[in-house]
Amino acid sequence: MVNIAVLGYGTVGSGVVEVINTNHNSINKRAGAEINIKYVLDLRDFPGDPVEKVLVHDYDVIANDPEVDIVVEVMGGIEPAYTFVKRALESGKSVCTSNKALVAKHGPELMEIAREKNINFLFEASCGGGIPIIRALNSSLTADEIDEITGILNGTTNYMMYKMSTEGCEFDTVLKEAQAKGYAEADPTADVEGYDACRKIAILSSLAYGKFLNYEDIYTEGITKITPEDMQYAEELDMTIKLLGTSRKIGDDSFYAMVAPFLVGKSSPLYSVNDVFNAVFVHGNVLGDAMFYGSGAGKLPTASAVVADVVDEAKHLHKNIMTNWSSKPLELIPMDEVEG
Ligand code: HSE
Repeated sequence: MVNIAVLGYGTVGSGVVEVINTNHNSINKRAGAEINIKYVLDLRDFPGDPVEKVLVHDYDVIANDPEVDIVVEVMGGIEPAYTFVKRALESGKSVCTSNKALVAKHGPELMEIAREKNINFLFEASCGGGIPIIRALNSSLTADEIDEITGILNGTTNYMMYKMSTEGCEFDTVLKEAQAKGYAEADPTADVEGYDACRKIAILSSLAYGKFLNYEDIYTEGITKITPEDMQYAEELDMTIKLLGTSRKIGDDSFYAMVAPFLVGKSSPLYSVNDVFNAVFVHGNVLGDAMFYGSGAGKLPTASAVVADVVDEAKHLHKNIMTNWSSKPLELIPMDEVEG
């Protein structure tokens, strides 16, 4: 049996419990062990919910229980997630997280602790919701020198711009819809100002180029100035507007990265990535082009990626598998020095 503790019973946390319960036969078979939800940590009570039986309010219960093998952090935000995750790793418990803010800010330190302890800090759900892009960059694409990653990395803003374009909806109205559907961050400023996409392109670039890209170094512009009229004008030009995160290698050891709204033409595969979908385009020197596409936000797609990490970890307990991550800094060239 592999015991897990789920930190947070919000949109993603309740999705994790639902996925494990719904697919328990196939999940246990693939994990080679029974995945047992020993604890769920939340400040709230859930009277009548089956999770009530394993609900705890005090993280010490989880941290001090040697039977907990994997901590699943789906609270979001930096604190207390950082303190909880660090404590779990230091006591030899692997961590699976969907928390891109945590990975982008503290990834090097947390990964180093995981390496020292020969356990894992896994974060498939941190980028692209249900799209298996982290695992691809850590294993399937390791034969390549990757020189570009460009993606629609935020489901909320993609949904908003799609609705503004197809239905002429106003910004505030579609933002509320995205929140109601469980796509948006607790503070949706992170979505609409591009900060969420910025953290994701930083994480993906760090894995792709083998050096840590600090998200604070990335030029970032969100969609707050985009109106339904802009979307319609783009359509008249046979184009659309997408919030893209992109990074490129443009010399031996020269990189740039940015997040901004771009005009995208019909010939681009990103043109048809609509609604809450995300897509990540990768170019490698021997592979050529590859694109990863799927549900980029929401309860079950995100939970699917978190639970896939739990299954992977159950198969690799006490063996560090995130081999493509380095803490050495990746320097960017300033945007005003980028040609073309
Ligand atoms: N708010 C994020 C998004 C959630 O809309 O993409 C998934 O990371």
